[in-house]
Amino acid sequence: MFKILKTEGKARRGEFSCAHGGTVQTPVFMNVGTQAAIKGGVSALDLKNVGCQIELSNTYHLHLRPGDKVVRQMGGLHKFMNWDGPILTDSGGFQVFSLASLRKIKEEGVTFASHIDGHRIFMGPEESMQIQSNLGSDIAMAFDECVENPARYEYAKASVERTLRWLQRCKVEHDRLNSLPDTVNPHQMLFGINQGATFADLRAWHMQEIAKIDCDGYAIGGLAVGEPAEIMYEMIDVVEPFAPKEKPRYLMGVGTPSNIIEAVARGVDFFDCVMPSRNGRHGKLFTWEGNVNIMNEKYITDDRPISESCSCPVCRSHSRAYLRHLFKADEVLALRLAVLHNLWFYNELMAKIREALDNGTFADFREKYSGNLE
Ligand code: GUN
Ligand code: ZN
Repeated sequence: MFKILKTEGKARRGEFSCAHGGTVQTPVFMNVGTQAAIKGGVSALDLKNVGCQIELSNTYHLHLRPGDKVVRQMGGLHKFMNWDGPILTDSGGFQVFSLASLRKIKEEGVTFASHIDGHRIFMGPEESMQIQSNLGSDIAMAFDECVENPARYEYAKASVERTLRWLQRCKVEHDRLNSLPDTVNPHQMLFGINQGATFADLRAWHMQEIAKIDCDGYAIGGLAVGEPAEIMYEMIDVVEPFAPKEKPRYLMGVGTPSNIIEAVARGVDFFDCVMPSRNGRHGKLFTWEGNVNIMNEKYITDDRPISESCSCPVCRSHSRAYLRHLFKADEVLALRLAVLHNLWFYNELMAKIREALDNGTFADFREKYSGNLE
């Protein structure tokens, strides 16, 4: 299912095949549609036009609204949102810890209050697997605990030990659900998640332990939560030797273009981040020539596109002056156009990384862009 086509140092150029939508070319950026929609008014139809290969949605959000049973009744997430390409669902682990309140963690799982109406919900490894099975995604993520940064060593240690036991339970339940006769997607895969805060020994131990459980891929979680980028890179370096070579590695929630280039150089294959859509909604646009803040007064009569070197649908059609006007006039179209451009940029970034790996010129690419794209 995962084939490495070429390597350059630790960087890997690969192909990953899923039940839906054929083959994903890696390294890849997954475009984030938390609640089966991309924030900023971007639809699954638009995703095709910005070069998206794989979409990411959230267990936590879809469980609360409209409910995973509703999605199942509608034929699964692919049919519900009309996206026939691959979908990865995050497990709820991270959102329960970042969004929900009144959390109580026990061995069985987590009780928390919904961020929508405050009602109390229980989610553990089995519940997360059941929800993701109802959604019918191609890749389910293990239910994990992402501890706060900075974390106390003793807490982080107890937490990774529990996250390991949770993965063992996820694996059993995932296999069981996949084998039921009426499963939405019986080919659903499962990725384990490495944790351990910023403690090298916990990270390395945990990666060695989860590698013993037969998962379809391994993610590195609990990073980009406020620690310096150097610490994040160090944690990737610490766990990479223990991540199975023949399986994809996914760095969760990362990051800036330079973070992505640096992580690819350290052997990571999959990424996701809200940055292109979130920054876009604030008028912050990524370009190869540096970031553009479209609200800036200097763009008021600028008839050039966001970037002369971008061939996205927005840059082919609209000027900076027009886009700035839309933001100033609070038109929802502003958000949509900005997010489309930024998603195109991220997908193009990954295409250029893959091209450099294909040509054996990734080291030059890294040197040229890593320090210059923020
Ligand atoms: N998204 C970003 N970081 C994490 C993490 O640590 N765990 C999960 N489940 N999702 C994430
Ligand atoms: Zn563009």
